[in-house]
Amino acid sequence: MTESALDTAPLLAAYRGVQAAHRPVWFMRQAGRSLPEYRALRRGTAMLDACLTPELAAEITCQPVRRHGVDAGIFFSDIVVPVRLAGVGVEIVPGVGPVVADPVRSLADVARLPELDPAALEPVREGVRLSVSELGEIPLIGFAGAPFTVASYLVEGRPDRDLPRTRALLAEEPETWRRLLEWVAGTTTAFLRAQAEAGVSALQLFDSWAGRLDVATYRSLVRPYSAQVLAGVADLGLPRIHFGTGTRDLLVDMYEAGADVVGVATDIGLAEASAQLGHRVPLQGNLDPELLSADWDVLEAAVREVCRQGSAAPGHVFNLGHGVPPTTDPDVLTRVVELVHSIPYEQENP
Ligand code: CP3
Repeated sequence: MTESALDTAPLLAAYRGVQAAHRPVWFMRQAGRSLPEYRALRRGTAMLDACLTPELAAEITCQPVRRHGVDAGIFFSDIVVPVRLAGVGVEIVPGVGPVVADPVRSLADVARLPELDPAALEPVREGVRLSVSELGEIPLIGFAGAPFTVASYLVEGRPDRDLPRTRALLAEEPETWRRLLEWVAGTTTAFLRAQAEAGVSALQLFDSWAGRLDVATYRSLVRPYSAQVLAGVADLGLPRIHFGTGTRDLLVDMYEAGADVVGVATDIGLAEASAQLGHRVPLQGNLDPELLSADWDVLEAAVREVCRQGSAAPGHVFNLGHGVPPTTDPDVLTRVVELVHSIPYEQENP
């Protein structure tokens, strides 16, 4: 890693709770279908093949940084990439999401899951190296899906908002569930470590569906495995961001799992989130993605309000509460970046 420039990057300052030259901003799913240059590059290439072609992944990673002037790149990949690299049959079907050929639903299914060979992660390492060298002084964020969210795709076989089979497995076969989450946690840790070895500056764990569970279940059957992953990368010294949706009752648990920064969705305001965490934890979030298609006046007021509330935390990285909708006008995102950069970070006495 080239030191100096990266060390003073506003993103990394905010993740450490230190005030920077301006308030940093990036968007979850900033690379993707909202960008015509992405759609052009992806034509004829399946999603996971694009992720595993280092030059393509690096170019897609850099597109939104060039266009919008955001303060971070996020490596173009997907939460099911390490599972695919272990040898599990999974595809990302356009408009649907990850589809698994042989869903995992029994102890025998778990026993058959292949070990991830660290050498298989080489396309990820190479894609990260190329991205880091192209991004220069803009930090690159690496990421992985948290064990619960990844496991839910393996169990359901295809996206199902209600997670019926996952809930049944958790309740009826906790031993199978624990063995499955052990496997996913190991695979996920290897995926994050590969990205770190190749030069990312921060690591985000996406537990998108964690908020679908009650707190007791989260604590006993989910959090320990996210904690295992976060502990498994602690020695790297990189900021660890922990994000999920619908997690207003889980924020303290998600922090205590071993995060340095908590990513907040739209079900709670940042001021209240910061209060829950004793105003001691840097936050990332949480503009409602739906507002990106609202009139500018409405959007501007909402952006200012997110920044005002974000100032209650010891560091704030502006982001959405979830991913960029594919129909978003990219010029609106560029304008939001300019606006956020113009709003001073004024920590209020909460
Ligand atoms: O944020 C970024 O710009 C980095 C890239 C990124 C992707 N997936 C690329 C992608 C990240 C961080 C993810 C994480 C991911 N993938 C999550 C966690 C975050 C979240 O959104 O909750 C989840 C649950 C997945 C699984 C997944 N992959 C889904 C549900 C889908 C959407 C399917 C669809 O077509 O609507 C994908 C596909 C996917 N991953 C796309 C991208 C850019 C769209 C594929 C395309 O462009 O054809």
